[in-house]
Amino acid sequence: MGKVILTGDRPTGRLHVGHYVGSLRRRVELQNEGDYDRMFVFMADVQALTDNADNPEKIRQNIIEVALDYLAAGLDPEKCTLFIQSQIPELSELTTYLMNLITVSRVQRNPTVKTEIKMRNFEANIPLGFFCYPVSQAADITLFKANIVPAGEDQEPMLEVTRELVNRFNNTYGPVLVEPSIMLPPEGACRRLPGIDGKAKMSKSLGNCIYLSDTADEVWQKVRSMYTDPTHVNLNDPGHVEGNMVFTYLDAFSTPDDFAECWPEYSGLDELKEHYCKGGLGDMKCKKFLNRVLNRTLEPMRERRREFEKDIPEVYNILKKGTESAREVAARTIDEVRHAMRIDYFNDAALIAEQAERFASKQQ
Ligand code: TRP
Repeated sequence: MGKVILTGDRPTGRLHVGHYVGSLRRRVELQNEGDYDRMFVFMADVQALTDNADNPEKIRQNIIEVALDYLAAGLDPEKCTLFIQSQIPELSELTTYLMNLITVSRVQRNPTVKTEIKMRNFEANIPLGFFCYPVSQAADITLFKANIVPAGEDQEPMLEVTRELVNRFNNTYGPVLVEPSIMLPPEGACRRLPGIDGKAKMSKSLGNCIYLSDTADEVWQKVRSMYTDPTHVNLNDPGHVEGNMVFTYLDAFSTPDDFAECWPEYSGLDELKEHYCKGGLGDMKCKKFLNRVLNRTLEPMRERRREFEKDIPEVYNILKKGTESAREVAARTIDEVRHAMRIDYFNDAALIAEQAERFASKQQ
């Protein structure tokens, strides 16, 4: 069996550095390592609509933003198929079949869905489409026979549901679908990057994000205002690195190279932390270093983004071509699904012959 990598994002806003360290960075590495048969990255606009039904314009506007973020981050349409979920009707079909293989109470136990229902005040009135999105996500993954899904840990419950559905489907109808596993980002700090306020996960609604498309100026304003250590008042006070966003971000972003090239006085992050904890190292110095570290990643992205922005119709064309190519795979799997379920009536010569015979014998 081949190696198929698939992952996606809801196009509800521009992507931020939390997306980058949590998933996007790894996707680009995977793409460039080339150790796979097929790689898909898609915009989950159908899923985004499950809690934005009254605001399709938001999704419509953000498709291009996310596409530019993908391309800027280094996803290469020659190596990785980029597509738009809503343009693959086979996804809805597979979702419908999978919904028969799972119970309402099973979906209700999904911790990610539970949290999201609370966050959106859906408790009393859950839109049915929203409730069913874990099943739709299982279709996203299985329609392309993906076996590796790079994503954050909040997606693990979706993968669990997917594996259960794969087993139910295969045991009921025959071995067509493939069990996926999640590929989590390796470093602990990257799994849930907090916002610059240090309060919660980076999120647009909280206004605590650094966007991949932020200018150098915007990034510096945000880094300058970052939450650090409130007990570190005077330069010589001992500092704390836990809960200190500058160090949390350095954990997620800085490399030995950054130290060698931008701050060779320190052998690496451990030594820097040690000095900060002892006292005598100011926040501003650390923020300036973090700003350089961030821009070493973000500046090449800004350059690529500027290039793609010059020809926006071509960006849509890239998505269209990717979608067409994804649809070929989708159509093949849907044929297999229908065949396994024995609902491919028009291709089922045995069925037609059998029924013809049954009715012929009735006539005699
Ligand atoms: N649920 C994912 C998110 O909120 C988006 C998504 C939809 C996805 N379908 C997927 C991720 C399939 C991985 C695989 O970010």
